[in-house]
Amino acid sequence: MIALGCDHGGFALLGEIRKLLDARGLEYRDFGTYSEESCDYPVYAEAVARAVASGECGCGILVCGTGIGMSIAANKIKGVRAALCGDCFSAEMTRRHNDANILCLGARVTGAGLALKITELFLHTEFEGGRHAKRVDLISKLEE
Ligand code: RB5
Repeated sequence: MIALGCDHGGFALLGEIRKLLDARGLEYRDFGTYSEESCDYPVYAEAVARAVASGECGCGILVCGTGIGMSIAANKIKGVRAALCGDCFSAEMTRRHNDANILCLGARVTGAGLALKITELFLHTEFEGGRHAKRVDLISKLEE
């Protein structure tokens, strides 16, 4: 189950992402927002981050104008590793090396075509473990 969230700046792009997930038969839970009316991105970042941190959802996708606010807010929640990605290499590597569990996208920065490619890479790339697991553990210790 994939947790989805956006603010007004990310609403249109998240719609494209929902279409991609529908086409792939992937299940998601959409935590809003549900329109382009101005709203506060930390509200949706928190909802998605808590769903991922609790295990209710296996991973999440958050979209705002830049992706920056969403990533800053989501990373406040213990257990979350939210990665802002604007290119395919970063999307692949943040799964392989950081075991990122939330993808953040900036709808005013990254075009829909690239954003969908990034999303596919994020969803289909496995964590490598090994020496990277130790480093992810060290990140988790920073939360103590
Ligand atoms: C909203 O105008 C904008 O600030 C928001 O979408 C996001 O870019 C914040 O980081």
